[in-house]
Amino acid sequence: MTTFALVGAGPGLGLATARRFGKAGHSVALLARNKERLDSLVTALPEDGIQVRGYTADVLEPASLTTALQAASDELGPIEILQYSPVPRADFMKPLLDTDPSDLDAPLAFSVKGPITCVNAVLPGMRALGGGTLLFVNGGSAVRPNPRVAGTSIAFAGESAYAAMLHDALAPENIHATQLIIPGAISPDAEHSSPEVLAERLYALHTERDGFRHYAEPLPE
Ligand SMILES: NC(=O)c1ccc[n+]([C@@H]2O[C@H](COP(=O)([O-])OP(=O)(O)OC[C@H]3O[C@@H](n4cnc5c(N)ncnc54)[C@H](OP(=O)(O)O)[C@@H]3O)[C@@H](O)[C@H]2O)c1
Repeated sequence: MTTFALVGAGPGLGLATARRFGKAGHSVALLARNKERLDSLVTALPEDGIQVRGYTADVLEPASLTTALQAASDELGPIEILQYSPVPRADFMKPLLDTDPSDLDAPLAFSVKGPITCVNAVLPGMRALGGGTLLFVNGGSAVRPNPRVAGTSIAFAGESAYAAMLHDALAPENIHATQLIIPGAISPDAEHSSPEVLAERLYALHTERDGFRHYAEPLPE
């Protein structure tokens, strides 16, 4: 069976999507910075009979991503699905008029260079498989820039442009790039944005392969 690789594995959306893709029979590779937190996610999943491993990597350090994705592919099987959904740091979200050029270094590394590094690492394997899915997850500022969170708004716009271009460029190779926008907060009791509901949406984006951009719920007026 092929592997679902999750870049930015945490206890919220990350764990729920890992469980959903694992339930469908995929091996699961979890990538995040903190080994102890990864270990606790890994121990949460085999209860469901899922083959899962954790790999430490920091999306701000491209070499760590490439090494982790290669190890995951070698140990678990070829990566058919890549999800990019690390949670951005609070200091990326400065107000517009307080934002200096250097404040954009980390947000752009996080939301633009990180995705490009990951996609370049997994594309050869997806081509060998004859197809694959690239899932990008963002908040509402990706489509409606918000001057209270300038760094993420600017960087998410770059990630969105990259992902949209991939959608068109890779379609002839049966590699489906798609984006899920989550306008509200993820919370266990949210009707459309609980981790479990979002995980089901992401799984459906993989299987249904219908268009580029999707919304968990409408953007607020
Ligand atoms: N939470 C919300 O309300 C909300 C709202 C709208 C959109 N979203 C989107 O939902 C996704 C996150 O879902 P979630 O909030 O439920 O989080 P989650 O899946 O529970 O956890 C995300 C994980 O990202 C990892 N991460 C952060 N920085 C990283 C880095 N530099 N390198 C590698 N991993 C890193 C963290 O693990 P380590 O600390 O171990 O690295 C964290 O546990 C993101 O795409 C976010 O844009 C969230």
